[in-house]
Amino acid sequence: MSIIPPGFSALALPTIQLSLSAVLKCGQSFRWTVYPLNTDASPPSHEYRFCLHDRVVCLRQTPTDILYRAVFPDPQPTPAERALRDTETLLWLKDYFQLNVDLASLYEEWASRDKVFLGIKDRFTGIRMLRQDPWENLISFICSSNNNISRITKMVQNLAKEYSAPLLSIPYPDGSGVKEYHPFPPPSALANPNVSARLRALGFGYRAEFIHRTAKMLVDVHGVSRDPLHPSEPSEVFLHTLRKMSTEDARAELLKFVGVGRKVADCVLLMSLDKTDVVPIDTHVIQIAIRHYGMKGSVKGKTNMTPKLYEELCTRFVQIWGDYAGWAHSVLFTSDLKAFASYGLINPQPFTPSQNDRKRRNEDPMIQGLPTPPPTPSARKISDPAELPKKRARVQ
Ligand SMILES: *[C@@H]1O[C@H](CO)[C@@H](O)[C@H](O)[C@H]1NC(C)=O
Ligand SMILES: *[C@@H]1O[C@H](CO)[C@@H](O)[C@H](O)[C@H]1NC(C)=O
Repeated sequence: MSIIPPGFSALALPTIQLSLSAVLKCGQSFRWTVYPLNTDASPPSHEYRFCLHDRVVCLRQTPTDILYRAVFPDPQPTPAERALRDTETLLWLKDYFQLNVDLASLYEEWASRDKVFLGIKDRFTGIRMLRQDPWENLISFICSSNNNISRITKMVQNLAKEYSAPLLSIPYPDGSGVKEYHPFPPPSALANPNVSARLRALGFGYRAEFIHRTAKMLVDVHGVSRDPLHPSEPSEVFLHTLRKMSTEDARAELLKFVGVGRKVADCVLLMSLDKTDVVPIDTHVIQIAIRHYGMKGSVKGKTNMTPKLYEELCTRFVQIWGDYAGWAHSVLFTSDLKAFASYGLINPQPFTPSQNDRKRRNEDPMIQGLPTPPPTPSARKISDPAELPKKRARVQ
């Protein structure tokens, strides 16, 4: 049992099921902020925060529990409302982290099928696919083209700051100031004609136009008038319906947007649309395929990606890892990120790369794909599936 700080509740969950320090920083979601809590690094060592439409969720992790609380803007909820909203926060957590999927048994399965996975599984534990909001996921991965995690993070956070009003402010855990939190902006906020010039000025480059045109396409087709019972715009609701489609049909819908090619579409399929077996292939994943799995790419890292090669690599990864191949790929992907070079080592050694390693790691690890969600809950369900909202986890 953990000592529970005031205002927090505890959800029993071992680190092998979820490692916040890995999952929230490995290029799946770019809007989590992280604050150190103490200098001796005893758990919980950090607080992680994420702004939803109506609340900021704050998390801390101990070896046995996830500690969580939600902070609301004024007027503060009454005690009765608060109980209801705490329940919503818990449901959101279970959905967002897909806690109905037993990650430990997936790790065992992947390790039994794949020696490479066996070699990393004890170091990179608890890396699971988030089940993100499809709209935010889509825009974030349009930003990801030819980009790296730290720059995508800045872009996505700037987008929220620029195009949605602050919801509330919370002091830093060390009391050194306050941080203002903005929800992710809705499609209509990015569909105005002046958006792409502004985003260019903010350093989005050619992605500025893609974001604006994608938002405009959605808003033109689906409109902006909201169902009073729904906090989301119709475009966001539409994107959620892609979860019910087949992988091929959902991919075809995503490919209609501007700035969305096969890789970006596959990231969205995996990370917010429940297509667990989709492995997004980019240059970084090709390098993993060549280095660790003896797959043929081509010379000197300059792989000429063709639709045929893309398809072959995907098929091969599914043969290796099975129907949660996309999830397994995210563990491999994370283990290969420079930022994770000493992750999970008991006595982190200074990183002394070989000549080849150095060359490879200096290449910008482009964001490609991490993980995603899951349905087809089979024997892997942990418990009480009835408790999990099947559809969206957006708390209102
Ligand atoms: C990410 O990309 C930016 C712009 O291309 C570059 O300045 C920065 O050094 C890169 N960061 C990392 C960690 O590679
Ligand atoms: C951009 O356009 C919208 C809607 O037309 C308007 O409300 C907003 O003030 C404009 N922003 C700037 C910076 O001009």
